[in-house]
Amino acid sequence: MEEHCLFYLAALAIFILILVMTFFISSLLQTPPRQHKTASLPLPPGPQPLSVLGTFFALFRRSEFDVEPLLRRLHSQHGPVVSFRLLSFPRPPIFVSDRVLAHRALVGRGATFADRPSAIDPGLIISSNRHNVTGAPYGPVWRALRRNLATKVLHPSQLRVYSPARRQVLDVLLKDLETKSSGGAAAVVVMESFRFAVFSLLAFMCFGERLDDEKIRRIASLQRELLSNFVSFSVFAVYPKFTKLLFRSRWKKLLDFRSKQEETYVPLIDARRNLLLRRRWEDGFVYSYVDSLVDLEIPEDGGRKLKDGEIVSLCSEFLSAGTDTTATALQWIMANLVKRPDIQTKLYEEIERVVEKDAVVREEDLQRMPYLKAVVLEGLRRHPPGHFVLPHTVTEEVEFEGYRIPKGTVVTFSVAEIGWDGAVWTEPMEFRPERFLEGGEGEGVDITGVQEIRMMPFGVGRRICPAMGLALLHLEYFVANLVKEFEWMPAADGEEIDMTEKVERCSKRESFPERELEQTNMPKLYEEIKCVVGTNENAMVREKDLLRMPYLKAMVLEGLRQHSPGHFVLPHTVLEKAEFEGYQIPKGVAVTFAVTKIGWDGVVWTKPMEFRPERFLERGGREGGGGDGHNQGPEGPRQRISPTIGLALLKLEYFVANLVKEFEWKPTTEEEEINMTKK
Ligand code: HEM
Repeated sequence: MEEHCLFYLAALAIFILILVMTFFISSLLQTPPRQHKTASLPLPPGPQPLSVLGTFFALFRRSEFDVEPLLRRLHSQHGPVVSFRLLSFPRPPIFVSDRVLAHRALVGRGATFADRPSAIDPGLIISSNRHNVTGAPYGPVWRALRRNLATKVLHPSQLRVYSPARRQVLDVLLKDLETKSSGGAAAVVVMESFRFAVFSLLAFMCFGERLDDEKIRRIASLQRELLSNFVSFSVFAVYPKFTKLLFRSRWKKLLDFRSKQEETYVPLIDARRNLLLRRRWEDGFVYSYVDSLVDLEIPEDGGRKLKDGEIVSLCSEFLSAGTDTTATALQWIMANLVKRPDIQTKLYEEIERVVEKDAVVREEDLQRMPYLKAVVLEGLRRHPPGHFVLPHTVTEEVEFEGYRIPKGTVVTFSVAEIGWDGAVWTEPMEFRPERFLEGGEGEGVDITGVQEIRMMPFGVGRRICPAMGLALLHLEYFVANLVKEFEWMPAADGEEIDMTEKVERCSKRESFPERELEQTNMPKLYEEIKCVVGTNENAMVREKDLLRMPYLKAMVLEGLRQHSPGHFVLPHTVLEKAEFEGYQIPKGVAVTFAVTKIGWDGVVWTKPMEFRPERFLERGGREGGGGDGHNQGPEGPRQRISPTIGLALLKLEYFVANLVKEFEWKPTTEEEEINMTKK
């Protein structure tokens, strides 16, 4: 028995030894030598990790792009590859700012760097579990979705099919701008018109027909709701179990948003499905993005069809990836043409040489306009709509430029810095389209960056923007026609145009329901603010901006007239016995004056109890005494007039303007009447 036992133990020991040896040898054979090499390599350099507190502050930052100045500093200290830990990322993300290294990674080792980081909420919900082109992992599903988009919708032969839609949208845009600029408007806010035009075009390509304006606005407002809330939704990317509990109403808002999105899109998708069955083969049938998605089978995923939710995510991606990027680029190009009338004139002269006087610029004319192309390229180089490509990642641990990049680490590349490289571009911060013409340093530049990267507004390599051709066509077409049709000038003579770039998280105001717009004074004020400082959320109303806001002044004066904070001036007295209006006023007696009553005098003010700022503007502000507020007495009359009147008005105007710019002010419930009685 003992012998038996010993034999058994020896057999077991040998078995274990064989197992260990097999495991050891096989692990030696299987482990890629690279892992051995990379294990000892350092991570890219960077500052100390941010604290947990830092993470929470980072969560509530206004924009991820606030990191740009920090990155610039880090690159100057540590070189073109840096990383720094934000606890919201499982590993410190890596930033690359050098064009040669970007080429080495994205082109030279394209497949290695082509993956996207694994998604977390809210991305997972919005993308139907990574079933969109932007977020799909580098693999068969991404390949099928991207191939479908590139060949069925964005292929040059298919782009021609949407040409009549482009013409229609252009006509609407030109008419809209003409209406806005007629009647001597001091300034026209163009961004909203640009955005609507680009969105309408993409909606046409997506759904194959021109949707009515109301539907377009509804879908556009949904897309903007998503964009404007994305930063706040991204709180769920960190400690999701905890944040979903902590921000319960925000989580519900995200789910509600997704339901609303499906309710809006699915009927449109169903309508196309039916149309495909009946009319697919008819002449003039416009094959749309939705049609291609309904038809698509993913061979790499068992040949299955896409689910409705997935089609919704893909449509949403199509509309949002293309709208703000194109509209922002268009706005920057036009802003530069305003700032540089000489460039505008040169472009106008080129257009005049190619196109007849009263005709619009047609798509086929664009080929004969090298200066137009140069202007558009310079716009994209100097002001790329995205300062970084979308986050990339590596599917396995790799060595890059002597550093270790662990599997799954976010790697991103700086589009803006690369396009501003002084080694390639002379005076890179100057707007100078000529650099793209014969003899210039940008002549014949290849923006796909296959051979070398000199600028990369659309990214490069496998994840390059699949809509580059479409975006360039839209930009050239709109810029040419906008310059042909209008002369672009600053809003006020001699006004400096603010060319500093700010990241827009989209204005919450843009989803204002029209009904509310009509009912309150706020939209007028908001329009004025928008005109002077734009809609960019990061831009505050500065004190010097107040000088250009007559409606704001009128609003503040009307507020003081109707609701003056003190109903009486502080007690006055007479220095000696005085006669006043037939009465004796003894020395030392307190005399006071009713501020409110004076401000409500029906002889001076028509319908004095109505809040109507226009009374300070109409008829040259005659009713309001020319708008200086002296027909009323909220700050007290003459000698004892408040010495701080200027400061008080400045503070009021400053706060009101910024509060209205930043927030939407509404009753707590839709029906609630605001109690305006004084207490
Ligand atoms: C001026 C206009 C545009 C610019 C500057 C632009 C720029 C970019 C950039 C920088 C990327 C990221 C590349 C990377 O991660 O390496 C990208 C990706 C993408 N863009 Fe655009 N884009 C524009 C217009 C559009 C339009 C009009 C559409 C759709 C109709 C679109 C759809 C996409 C998609 C689907 C991706 C993801 C590609 C992938 O991950 O494979 N873009 N774009």
